[in-house]
Amino acid sequence: MESIRVFAPASVANVSCGFDILGFALNTPGDEIILNQNDSGEVKIVDITGDDGQLPKDPEKNSASAVIINILKHLKLPLGIDIRLHKKMPLGSGLGSSAASSVAAAYAVNELLGNPLDSMEVLEFAMYGEKIACGSDHADNVAPALFGGFVLIRSYNPLDVIKLPAPEELYASVIHPRIEIKTKDARDILKKQIQLKNAIKQWGNVGGLISGLYTSDYELIGRSMVDHIIEPIRSILIPGYDAVKAAALDSGVLGCGISGSGPSVFALSRGSRVAREAAQKMKEEFKKIGIESDIYVSKVNNQGPIVLEQA
Ligand code: HSE
Repeated sequence: MESIRVFAPASVANVSCGFDILGFALNTPGDEIILNQNDSGEVKIVDITGDDGQLPKDPEKNSASAVIINILKHLKLPLGIDIRLHKKMPLGSGLGSSAASSVAAAYAVNELLGNPLDSMEVLEFAMYGEKIACGSDHADNVAPALFGGFVLIRSYNPLDVIKLPAPEELYASVIHPRIEIKTKDARDILKKQIQLKNAIKQWGNVGGLISGLYTSDYELIGRSMVDHIIEPIRSILIPGYDAVKAAALDSGVLGCGISGSGPSVFALSRGSRVAREAAQKMKEEFKKIGIESDIYVSKVNNQGPIVLEQA
């Protein structure tokens, strides 16, 4: 194969109670990458669109190219590859933008080479891309972007990733207020220690959420979507957060929280009607304080990356 075009999806990490250990993939938005083999023996970024010139073009510093360079080194293949990256979602949005690019890159190059890596190896290389982008190699965006669906990272060392079922009628509403929060900054403000009483509530909710996903118990999913540890700190970074969350809950969603490291806010609903209405209400709340926003309503994406073209 000489060339390949791959889509990888956005994702919602943490899902309220599962900081760094839970995430799910969305159908839309997502990033596209096009790889073409070249004769120069170098990995080059030929074009990036949709990033307003913000992403580095140095192949060692850009997460997509760095992932590809690392994979080629690991496989001892001195190949040249031209990379075109089309960002179709905002950066610093809490939608797993760097994860989508890293997963698209790792998945695409593995396909291009005839799948020499197994899926856990692809995941580990994509995590390296996340580390390049934000200084931390958490997997709660990359794993759902790669495997689709809801994913639990049971352990990081050794890496133990468990795909969870998503109930059929579960819909996500995600609203992205047009402000940027860098994941690194949103991680740096977190406390390094938490109180036992909060940990007890949090792991109760993680268990409840996972149980709800397995049994399609929508009410249980909703009442487990409570974050006693991260949300109280990070919500301060999102103007109007409390009003936006209240608007979603008033619309009848199951639960609502910060998507990843923010500023996007997500809600889960039973059925698409509530999900669409809640997204609209959340948008109105941001508008009241002068913040424009974009909304995405999606079922849980069970597929992960898609090969769009190959030649
Ligand atoms: N779990 C990560 C965080 C996701 O909340 O910092 C953001 O990439």
